[in-house]
Amino acid sequence: MTSIAYYDQHCDAFVANTASVDMTELYTAFLSRLKPGAHILDAGCGSGRDTCHFLKQGYHVTAIDGSVAMVRHASAFTGINVRQLTFENLDYQAAFEGIWACASLLHIPLSELPDVMARMSEALKNNGIWYLSFKYGAGEVSRDGRSFTNLTEESLGELVDALSGISLLSTWQTSDKRSDREDERWLNALCKYSKTPVQTTWQPA
Ligand SMILES: C[S@@+](CC[C@H](N)C(=O)[O-])C[C@H]1O[C@@H](n2cnc3c(N)ncnc32)[C@H](O)[C@@H]1O
Repeated sequence: MTSIAYYDQHCDAFVANTASVDMTELYTAFLSRLKPGAHILDAGCGSGRDTCHFLKQGYHVTAIDGSVAMVRHASAFTGINVRQLTFENLDYQAAFEGIWACASLLHIPLSELPDVMARMSEALKNNGIWYLSFKYGAGEVSRDGRSFTNLTEESLGELVDALSGISLLSTWQTSDKRSDREDERWLNALCKYSKTPVQTTWQPA
């Protein structure tokens, strides 16, 4: 089973487990770097919990998810048309001031992350801010039909270094916000996209 098939099959249980988790600390880190009304991509929106929060705060939100069941749920929950789209097929160019990829890129195999992260970074406008989170650790693990790519500060740093125009602003660890999982560690990161200046060759007049 792929991770997306897992979410299709377990949509109701996943929503029940995650829809009311308090993400305030992470919202603050991300939103404090965005202008009011900025356009945010919620990439792998799951229940739609974070999309709802951003909409209530006055941001413009586009939400996507690869799972048909999650898209159906999140569309009803948020009141916006959530798009069914996989990260592998992301097709936005310079469209967002912010990208929120909360606990979602972690399902991409390590060998495919460079490509998927490059695609996602291209969706950012100049000076755009990108939040992403992974389970903290090393290597790939499979559990109950889902695969996870765990990262450390070093392995995430290597992935980010390979991206054009993306710089790592900060990384920090948190514990899982669900009360029954407080011993699980998460790696959070904020990145920024800066358009590389076009090199011009000076020519005498
Ligand atoms: C752990 S959940 C996180 C959901 C939400 N961001 C949250 O924080 O509650 C991962 C989400 O990513 C979606 N997902 C997994 N792999 C994906 C892919 N390749 N493309 C698009 N979405 C994917 C899943 O359907 C699921 O909704």
